[in-house]
Amino acid sequence: MSSFKLRIVHISDTHITRFGMHLPDMLDKCLSIISELDPKPDVIIHSGDITDNGVLDDYELACQKLRAISHEILFTPGNHDERNYGDSLFKEMIGPVDFEVSIGKAVFLLLDSAVPDSDNGRLGRYRQGLITSKFKALPEDTLKILVLHHHTIPVPFAGREKDILEDAGDVLRVVLDAGVDLVLMGHRHVRNAIQVNNTVFVNAGTVSCVRTRGRLGNSFNVIDITKDNIVNINVVNINGGKEETRWVFKLAHKQNK
Ligand SMILES: [Fe+2]
Ligand SMILES: [Fe+2]
Repeated sequence: MSSFKLRIVHISDTHITRFGMHLPDMLDKCLSIISELDPKPDVIIHSGDITDNGVLDDYELACQKLRAISHEILFTPGNHDERNYGDSLFKEMIGPVDFEVSIGKAVFLLLDSAVPDSDNGRLGRYRQGLITSKFKALPEDTLKILVLHHHTIPVPFAGREKDILEDAGDVLRVVLDAGVDLVLMGHRHVRNAIQVNNTVFVNAGTVSCVRTRGRLGNSFNVIDITKDNIVNINVVNINGGKEETRWVFKLAHKQNK
């Protein structure tokens, strides 16, 4: 019997394509590591930039690779997925955008922060309102988990701040006000975690894009939330880097259940 309330595998920025920026061996190794995890994840979250160019060939290859995973996997689109009219292919081949899923004691809300053919992102008033309406009235012991591609707060070691969420300040206010427990993001290709008030903001690195940062390499996150509401975030270095990165946070406002 696992002592975990919830195990989430958080992957991001696979940038799947046959045409340049994708590292297929890294993706295969990542999927192999995930298949051997014990305990198995309750869910896999992909926080966007599934494809590199948003074109049909990229999406076909992505479906072939990622649909082979035997675990439930939930996706939200990134800016690269919405290039070249890719937003239509995402909805046709991957699934809906802006939806919620309940898994055990957790409610996941996945929102589309991408703007077609723009690297900047925006949630806008409608999606900001969804964060409030979906999360604010939930019972105290429910884990509230928001997933979007663009980072809401700056990420250390990521270089010059660009390709931003244009309404990041408003989104931050709404997230904190709704008492969101976890925000899962990608986009910067850098792993990071930081707690602001009662909310833990988590970025995953890139699974399989050549555009890594410094010596950080390719990685993904395994997030374990215990029955005592401790959040353990373990970074898995796909190419076996020496550095082990782990963050631990306490969701102090939650009841232990
Ligand atoms: Fe990316
Ligand atoms: Fe991105």
